[in-house]
Amino acid sequence: MRVLSGIQPTGRFHWGNYFGAIRQYIALQDNDQAFYFIADLHALTTIRDASALRGFTQDAALDLLALGLDPAKATLFRQSDVPEVTELMWLLTTLTPMSLLEKCHAYKDKLAKGRPADAGLFSYPVLMAADILLYDSDVVPVGVDQVQHIEVTRDIAVKFNLTFQREVFVLPEARVMTETAKVVGTDGEKMSKSYGNTIELFEDAKKLRKKIMSIKTDSTPVEAPKNPESCPVFTLYKLFASEAQQASLAERYRAGGMGYGEAKQALFEAADAFIGPARERREKLASAASYVEDVLHAGAQRARVKGQEVLNRAREACGLNKRGDGITGRQDR
Ligand code: ADP
Ligand code: TRP
Repeated sequence: MRVLSGIQPTGRFHWGNYFGAIRQYIALQDNDQAFYFIADLHALTTIRDASALRGFTQDAALDLLALGLDPAKATLFRQSDVPEVTELMWLLTTLTPMSLLEKCHAYKDKLAKGRPADAGLFSYPVLMAADILLYDSDVVPVGVDQVQHIEVTRDIAVKFNLTFQREVFVLPEARVMTETAKVVGTDGEKMSKSYGNTIELFEDAKKLRKKIMSIKTDSTPVEAPKNPESCPVFTLYKLFASEAQQASLAERYRAGGMGYGEAKQALFEAADAFIGPARERREKLASAASYVEDVLHAGAQRARVKGQEVLNRAREACGLNKRGDGITGRQDR
């Protein structure tokens, strides 16, 4: 079974990205054939600064590797290193009804927020469909917000198969990651880059502490008993702490006599201990000159073998010549 997912390099990863997505990707690499990519072509719809995009892409790869994504088990690549994906996108675009894209939430939401409506943002789901269909993906782990895009992908695949009377594409299934459906941010709302309430995963200890101390809490006095379940500090603590640690902090909340500063300190210690080993691995990987590039390059080579096979199926089905060129080497990038 092939598992595939992509993550956009639009900033440094935060706790929401890790507990909502990355952790599940890493867990799935043990049982399935996993393809994970850094969706830099999608990020172009928001990041218009070349060095920022390069930096975030590099950081995303380093972060994923430091967190335990193992290139011996999973194929990790940069979306833009597989040119077949944009070609497939065109083939799919010619069959995609406008009405299908017009009803996509991601597009409608951004439009409602006053983002200028460019064609890239509008066709974003077609590129996503190409990402998925190009590799015969069976299962696509995503957050709830992306489920609609997987449905669009299925609609496009069915239409293509029907139109050309062949089973060109495998129909993918979304796997919604519900374990930690919504990680809250420093203001108690959903953690998201667009709300400015994130805590970055690889923040250094000093900044991490400062961010945690800035989490909004209510004004219950120190002496008063507190409800852990309605406190964002405790909600976040649960992500990092063992059951026993959770029970003991919950007890401190309920007993009264504990200020939020103490809970925040406990959260800081748990989060810092959690990320410590990954921070060290990240530093080592970052100092190994071409390691990340080598991993991404090898990943793209593997992805392209599969991608060229599927693209050829699609080209042939719709009346284009099959491509004879083999996998090209590093010099073409
Ligand atoms: P952001 O909202 O910060 O821009 P992205 O949309 O780039 O984050 O998120 C990438 C993935 O990380 C999403 O598919 C989603 O599964 C996960 N994710 C992001 N924020 C959260 C959150 N607060 N809680 C749970 N999962 C999240
Ligand atoms: N759109 C996804 C997101 O913002 C990222 C993505 C791009 C993706 N292509 C994909 C996810 C293909 C799964 C499969 O989170």
